[in-house]
Amino acid sequence: MATACPPLSLPSTSLLRGRAGPRRRQLSAVRCSAVGEAVAEEASVGTAVEPLLVSAIRGKKVERPPVWLMRQAGSETGLEFVGLLLEVTIEGFRQCLVSYQLLCERYPKFRERSENVDLVVEISLQPWKVFKPDGVILFSDILTPLPGMNIPFDIVKGKGPVIYDPLRTAAAVNEVREFVPEEWVPYVGQALNLLRQEVKNEAAVLGFVGAPFTLASYCVEGGSSKNFTMIKKMAFSEPTILHNLLQKFTTSMANYIRYQADNGAQAVQIFDSWATELSPADFEEFSLPYLKQIVDSVRETHPSLPLILYASGSGGLLERLPLTGVDVVSLDWTVDMAEGRKRLGSNVAVQGNVDPGVLFGSKEFISKRIYDTVQKAGNVGHVLNLGHGIKVGTPEENVAHFFEVAKGIRY
Ligand code: CP3
Repeated sequence: MATACPPLSLPSTSLLRGRAGPRRRQLSAVRCSAVGEAVAEEASVGTAVEPLLVSAIRGKKVERPPVWLMRQAGSETGLEFVGLLLEVTIEGFRQCLVSYQLLCERYPKFRERSENVDLVVEISLQPWKVFKPDGVILFSDILTPLPGMNIPFDIVKGKGPVIYDPLRTAAAVNEVREFVPEEWVPYVGQALNLLRQEVKNEAAVLGFVGAPFTLASYCVEGGSSKNFTMIKKMAFSEPTILHNLLQKFTTSMANYIRYQADNGAQAVQIFDSWATELSPADFEEFSLPYLKQIVDSVRETHPSLPLILYASGSGGLLERLPLTGVDVVSLDWTVDMAEGRKRLGSNVAVQGNVDPGVLFGSKEFISKRIYDTVQKAGNVGHVLNLGHGIKVGTPEENVAHFFEVAKGIRY
């Protein structure tokens, strides 16, 4: 039986205006159906014309928030991820994970797995086959374009990304080439096309890129960093060098977004994972203008491509994030969803923001947190997600529960 959740306590003004089109009525409650229950509804689900996720981002009336999850992305626990695969409890999921494990054994290097079109398609589709999320993200990495920009790198088990020759001088930055995706990552375009064929419009195929500051932080630091001293040394003593590098990433990532869209990506997420290491004033100098430039430049050629911005730990920067011009800001769980909505303003949709740690809780607790997040986000322009990727050790049955509950929701 469908249960009525407490009424939404959001501003009655339309949450989203602007580019994405007119906004609809605000419903007063979310109907939280019991898991697995069919709920008759009048509002649209994903159609042959447009996936649910894209409709929601555009501020259209949808029957429930679209939902997708990122597998672990930028965590330092790749090896354990493989360990996790052995403790599975759900048969379909188990088979997928075991097949991923076999792939990892056969292709032990992340770059091998992520730069081969067949493997990229197969791995990207694994969560889709089991959970039918509303978004299917390309299996790749924000660092994948680096070799094409003359920046050799690898992802080393237990260590994370390694940039062999960190960029620390004007001469080194001068050697960085502009990225030509067709030439360097044709497998990305091919994989996106194949994903579109496979997924049809039952889910949105999602591309992604790294933001200039985040990419620069890997390249200047030489890999993952705790204190970001190298990039800050450059920013605060030789800013021109850093600005040159940021500009190269900006032009290249704008092109890469276009390439992904031309090959089938229906929305593109920009990860500025480390922007929140910057003070607000430094964010305004070293990140915001470049993000804005990417968005403006993509809009010129692809005006209706939805762009999502993710910056982990972005509570201190929230008001500044919509200034980039993106369609969606993805929140992590350290921000209350209702407060986040107010602070972001009415021109932007929101994604998130359940704590990935909640998936270690009881099923009842997981359900409660999902409903709470959905109510606080309101019934327009919300993409339900975790505040970051799934954590290593997350019980798979809880991931399944997350999707079942989320897909049973009706506004
Ligand atoms: O659901 C998915 O398939 C997500 C695809 C994805 C990956 N990386 C795959 C990946 C995405 C969206 C990313 C983005 C990414 N990569 C970010 C931004 C997101 C965030 O977490 O803030 C960052 C900062 C990176 C850089 C990066 N890549 C790190 C720090 C690591 C971990 C290295 C390690 O040894 O664990 C990676 C590798 C990586 N990229 C993995 C995955 C699944 C884990 C390694 C593996 O599976 O072999």
